[in-house]
Amino acid sequence: MADARKLGFGPIAAPGGGVLIVFADDSLQFGPRTRSALGSAAELIARAAKAERFTGKTGSALDIVAPAGIKATRLVLVGTGKAADRKAQDLVKLGGIAMGKIPNAATEVTALLELADGPLKPEAAADVALGATLRAYSFDRYKTKRKEGEEPPAKARVTLAVADVTGARKAWVAREAVAEGVVLARDLVNEPPNVLYPVEFARRATGLRKLGVGVEILDVKAMRKLGMGALLGVGQGSRHESRIALMRWNGGKKGTPPLAFIGKGVCFDTGGISIKPAANMEDMKGDMAGAACVVGLMQALAGRKAKVNAIGAIGLVENMPDGNAQRPGDIVTSMSGQTIEIINTDAEGRLVLADVIHYVNTRFKPKFMIDLATLTGAIIVALGQENAGMFANDDKLAERLTQAGLDTGERVWRMPLAPEYDKLIDSKFADMKNTGGRFGGSITAAQFIQRFVGKTPWAHLDIAGTGFASPASDINKSWGSGWGVRLLDRLVAEHYEK
Ligand code: BES
Ligand code: MN
Ligand code: ZN
Repeated sequence: MADARKLGFGPIAAPGGGVLIVFADDSLQFGPRTRSALGSAAELIARAAKAERFTGKTGSALDIVAPAGIKATRLVLVGTGKAADRKAQDLVKLGGIAMGKIPNAATEVTALLELADGPLKPEAAADVALGATLRAYSFDRYKTKRKEGEEPPAKARVTLAVADVTGARKAWVAREAVAEGVVLARDLVNEPPNVLYPVEFARRATGLRKLGVGVEILDVKAMRKLGMGALLGVGQGSRHESRIALMRWNGGKKGTPPLAFIGKGVCFDTGGISIKPAANMEDMKGDMAGAACVVGLMQALAGRKAKVNAIGAIGLVENMPDGNAQRPGDIVTSMSGQTIEIINTDAEGRLVLADVIHYVNTRFKPKFMIDLATLTGAIIVALGQENAGMFANDDKLAERLTQAGLDTGERVWRMPLAPEYDKLIDSKFADMKNTGGRFGGSITAAQFIQRFVGKTPWAHLDIAGTGFASPASDINKSWGSGWGVRLLDRLVAEHYEK
């Protein structure tokens, strides 16, 4: 849901009325244009900073009402920390921080995008705008009332003042597409499960057609014909039919193999017959965060016309207990021909991925496959919410993902795969079972998926800890984080375009 706040770029000029945002580093140094814009108010600021012990630390702010010497009704100083410590990612954060400091009542806001060492370059300005946009996101589609004293979201017009306006606008075109991808992913994760069931999710994916993305929907009949017994087994207890949505963006050279992104889209996970306890079960509306990320990524790639061929594939099901639901003890046959004994119907995500991954691999022969799934509670125990678990059969892909994670702040931590773990999912009755016992739960889940991957370079991202219920950050206040869109967009931009 795009926020009411309107964002645009403008020239650095003597600021008019409204709120003025300026940046100061930890030695309270301003850039030259900021200094001249502040004029005689600079003196006042220096004194106020001293009185308030404002040190310019990252994230700190100083708010001065009706500052003497300038036209602004309010001046907000935002700290940028030590220039030497600054990374590109910090500019995104800085945009988020600055957006967070805008008073709710503001209608006109100008932020001077200049640091002590001078005005921000277009790419850097676009990073700030990205952070500001993501911070401004909120999901309030279903709120018809507000608590007393709660202001309606401000409709402030925010101008980012830069030295090179044309350059910044140009850089923003691509970055805005990424912002829109993250926003789309967040919206999907936040939607309630009575609204966003598999058929509706698939319909939303078709919305990408207007960007030139080819979208193909496989219904139950088509999946039956393909022999997708693993995915269909999960959905058979639901009143809502299962779907697969395939999204194709051909921005690269004709004939070059596509990159493939595959998402777990369990629109609601009750656990099925192995039903989950009631506490926090409502969170399982977010069990489609992997699929949401894939849709958001396709939106970003198409929106910025990425020079790459990419496939997005999402398996959409609802895992319900029912007279027709799958049972522990059932044996299903996956599209790959491998058979699976169901031990626990709550280990459903891997069953969905098994068929989608096999399908994508055999039909598209992709350059690599990356799957995203809110797969195991165990990964939250292992890594918390600051890193997603990464499993990979390819060191180069793993390293690139790790670096993209550090660059975007959407970090991944590599976990092991090994034949010894693989043994834990051998079954007495079928080729494998769908759970491997208590030990190494995230690893045996990854081993399971690997059995459907073949030799294609592959990485599996377990995003159970990062996809939703996210701790608030400088660039996200929403439950659904849209995690992974920026990570994968960066991976593509850095290594696979042209
Ligand atoms: N969707 C859950 C995993 C999950 C749990 C994601 C909490 C986010 C937050 C998954 O389908 C699941 O139920 N996994 C089981 C696997 C077990 C039965 C082997 C789990 O983690 O307990
Ligand atoms: Mn489950
Ligand atoms: Zn699940």
